[in-house]
Amino acid sequence: MLFFVMEKQDQGWWRNATIYQVYPRSFQDTDGDGEGDLQGVIKRLSYLRWLGVDAIWLSPFYKSPNKDGGYDVSDPRDVDPRFGNLSTAKDLIEETHNAGLKIIVDIVPNHFSTDHIWFKEAINSPGNSEARKRFHFYDGRGSTGEIPPNNWNSIFGGPAWTRLEDEINSQWYLHLFDSTQADLNWQNQDVRRDFERTLKFWLDLGVDGFRIDVAHGLAKDEILKDHPDPTGLTRALRLDVTGMPDNERAALLSDVPFFDREGVHEIYRSWRKIFDSYSGERISVAEAWVHPSSRAARYVRRDELHQIFNFDFLIAPWDGEFLVSAIKRILSEVGAVGAPATWVLSNHDSPRLVTRLGGGEIGQRRARAFALLTHSLPGGCYIYQGEELGLSDGSIPDSARQDPVYYRTKGIDKGRDGARVPMPWSNDPNFGFTKGRPWLPMSFDTSQSVETQMHVKESSLNLYHASLEIRRVHPALKKSHDQELIWLETQLGLIAFKREPGLAVYANTTNQDRIIRLNQPAKLLISSSADVKVIGPELHLAKDSTCWLEM
Ligand code: GLC
Repeated sequence: MLFFVMEKQDQGWWRNATIYQVYPRSFQDTDGDGEGDLQGVIKRLSYLRWLGVDAIWLSPFYKSPNKDGGYDVSDPRDVDPRFGNLSTAKDLIEETHNAGLKIIVDIVPNHFSTDHIWFKEAINSPGNSEARKRFHFYDGRGSTGEIPPNNWNSIFGGPAWTRLEDEINSQWYLHLFDSTQADLNWQNQDVRRDFERTLKFWLDLGVDGFRIDVAHGLAKDEILKDHPDPTGLTRALRLDVTGMPDNERAALLSDVPFFDREGVHEIYRSWRKIFDSYSGERISVAEAWVHPSSRAARYVRRDELHQIFNFDFLIAPWDGEFLVSAIKRILSEVGAVGAPATWVLSNHDSPRLVTRLGGGEIGQRRARAFALLTHSLPGGCYIYQGEELGLSDGSIPDSARQDPVYYRTKGIDKGRDGARVPMPWSNDPNFGFTKGRPWLPMSFDTSQSVETQMHVKESSLNLYHASLEIRRVHPALKKSHDQELIWLETQLGLIAFKREPGLAVYANTTNQDRIIRLNQPAKLLISSSADVKVIGPELHLAKDSTCWLEM
């Protein structure tokens, strides 16, 4: 009977879950090599439990030459020695469950590292061999095959093709990302079977789900056809769109020959059957940047994936009208297929929230307000490690940069290292992250560490801790009636809605304090700024702030 009750409580756990992204390399080092490891994640589970999240998602920790932070996988069913070994991974899964949390791992199906045994086999095999058919190998154009098979660019900069040096078999292979990340051919049955094996491998070890990397990229159309505007397309995809009219960008993104093709859905329908064949609810979340956003719902139809990251907030300005329309749109788009929304303020690929919102005191203020708004919304909420501390991007000398984006764009794009600086845990040397030399320079001050913030009532960390607790227990927030949100009339630049029973959320995205007349008695539950007050029938909502009221 007890078992039955627990199973029931667990049902749909993911629909409203708060999921914390661990970037293992930067989380906690325990062996002194200057990079985080799985033992370090085990060590910090008690912190994550205290913080109040429901699950963790781990970025890749698989065997990898680490040319793209582990998203260049050379063996998806083994752990890279830098992070531990399979037995540490098993311990981590078990300990995470013992802590009452779920655990999601990354799967990277668009490409394999060129260190993967298949790629080595391919380059040692002839042009039309079965070994090459697992990837996208083609002859070049021009009299000596010196021109790539098409004009696509890599998302990381430079061409999307690299030619083998071997004189006889000098074909080109496709890589939408770094040249060490060879795109897999999903028409090939070996590829399909191998990924099914990988899914089952981790499911058998007890993981609760997968975050699917580049989920929109697996199927490609018309590989041998040139794109009419490869430079414009690259700019649009990299969001480097200064000066590009919105309609031009939208047109470029609405038809990308290597993203969001019909062929991906059949793959996810077959994966869904695998997830559903396991006990407990094993889930999947797609990293898929699709345009227009209404196409996102296609990934979360009932027989496909569970969630798709909604990246609107990751790039959104702190602007009331923009945010209200984004929230309405997402809720209605994914709601139409019965899927919950997701909310993401930052991740390992994007600037830190505080930095993106202006940095310094303004950035801090807005980031707190934005987070509190986000935590009140129906659906899944993803938090990237360090976001709860209100960290800014680290300043990194060019000589210390590691991201292939920096190198492939020849330094024009500084890359993503700023958001990947290791966690400042304590006020010990290297902020308690490592006893060795951190892989990226850590230039925090002690006020930013977990140790300090735990003891400061108004800290960003304590704001996250308190709001996540209310999110977990308040009857208006904990239920998984995903779409329930009642909009309230309010002033320009403000956001106001109710969640029943009895919770109202107000956010002020302007740079002026505002007074709002409430038409019923209210009690302040939590606010992102100490300057927010309820005085009689009035709510004094400070500039750049959010509050939750009990009505
Ligand atoms: C995803 C990952 C990113 C990686 C890329 C290529 O976007 O989030 O970190 O570089 O895929 O695998």
